[in-house]
Amino acid sequence: SVGAAFVGGDRPVLRENIDDLSKMVEEADVLLREKGRDDVEGFGWINLPYQDLSETIKIGRWLSGFEAIVQIGIGGSALGNRMLAKALLPPFYNELDASVRKAPKFYLLENPDPKTAVSLLDRLDLSKTAFIVVSKSGSTTETAAHFLWAWQKVREKIGERASDNFLIITDPRKGILRKFAKSTGCRSLNIPESVGGRYSVLSSVGLATASALGINIEKLVQGAKEMDQRLVLRSHLWENPAWLLACINLLHAKAGRNMAVMMPYGDDLADFAEWFAQLWGESLGKEGYGTTPVRALGAIDQHSQLQLYAEGPDDKLITIIDVKNRPLFLLPDVVDIDALKDLEFLYGKALGDLLSIEARSTASALVKAGKPVIYLNIPEVSERYIGALVFFYEYVTALVGFLMKINPFDQPGVEQGKRYIYSLMGRRGYEEYVKEVEEYFGA
Ligand code: PA5
Repeated sequence: SVGAAFVGGDRPVLRENIDDLSKMVEEADVLLREKGRDDVEGFGWINLPYQDLSETIKIGRWLSGFEAIVQIGIGGSALGNRMLAKALLPPFYNELDASVRKAPKFYLLENPDPKTAVSLLDRLDLSKTAFIVVSKSGSTTETAAHFLWAWQKVREKIGERASDNFLIITDPRKGILRKFAKSTGCRSLNIPESVGGRYSVLSSVGLATASALGINIEKLVQGAKEMDQRLVLRSHLWENPAWLLACINLLHAKAGRNMAVMMPYGDDLADFAEWFAQLWGESLGKEGYGTTPVRALGAIDQHSQLQLYAEGPDDKLITIIDVKNRPLFLLPDVVDIDALKDLEFLYGKALGDLLSIEARSTASALVKAGKPVIYLNIPEVSERYIGALVFFYEYVTALVGFLMKINPFDQPGVEQGKRYIYSLMGRRGYEEYVKEVEEYFGA
């Protein structure tokens, strides 16, 4: 539920400003639904709640037999996995005893930092490790580099059988990885052609590892479906939380608030902010539009960033995500030491409640300082509600993109960066870009 949306100091966003967008947001919604129905490129994520999960579950079962699984991918081919694992697996998951964990250890190879990659592969028994190589395009440099290296290492260890330890998740038809899967016969899953990287967490990209790790992916997808059905039913601006949030975001951006702070409360949602940052930044930062996503974490950032958010420039719209039901974890009723008497206000209180009290206190402090805040409440951190939250934010992001009249599903800026990397690494066909880089950096 959207608990409250506060308006912001001397450049307020008022009810009538939101009402004025009513027709536009309704039209944007129609466009999204129509193109989704036709499975137009970029719009396919809207159909993911209705996908057949049987193949992904089957692959998940196979993966769960390994001692460890390592997902190789970057951006939309990794961040959703990180977010799901952090939200839905127990804390310190990899450190748990295998009998408690009951599923493989889970690692991601995202950044091509040799220190990380080498120390990870050194600590794994490669014959008992599955590598899941995820890339929609099939040729992203960081992913390709990690893949080549892991493939070579596994080949050295188990020879011809290496392909039994690899799963490829990529475009159904195109790209180098699809060719590789075909030629080696290693297992593979499709990323639907119409689903782009940062909107792919509810496809095989996010769900294969989630399923292997014991996360209930049917409930995740069910949560997304319930959210979708809820949004489709609410055809009035003030009843549709996605429409409302899209309008509020657009209006604050127009009012000069060019940063979108995402501040969930609770460690399990820390990577939700990370996932959101890519979704928001890469979808909306175009043609001079967009607001810069800022990751924050409650309560830690109360003691780091809150001062700036409250009394610094009025250039942010701050979203706080609170969770209604958390494990309580009661503090001691009484502590028999006089020196601690001033702490008696904490005796018998629940840590879980403390986080929510802090979320509301932060929201209040920001409102008092005249800063705009969106306060969202989810019932609990579980598959159902994470699925719903993911779908909700994908929906809101796409709508904001349409309201800004930009394409929320492409990423030309990212692609240019990729072309420069290819050219500097000597990939055939990209020679012309070397000159451009040399112009900026010298030969
Ligand atoms: O959202 C996107 O499309 C990008 O951020 C991609 O996810 C990222 O660049 C990785 O691309 P790929 O999956 O093709 O390797």
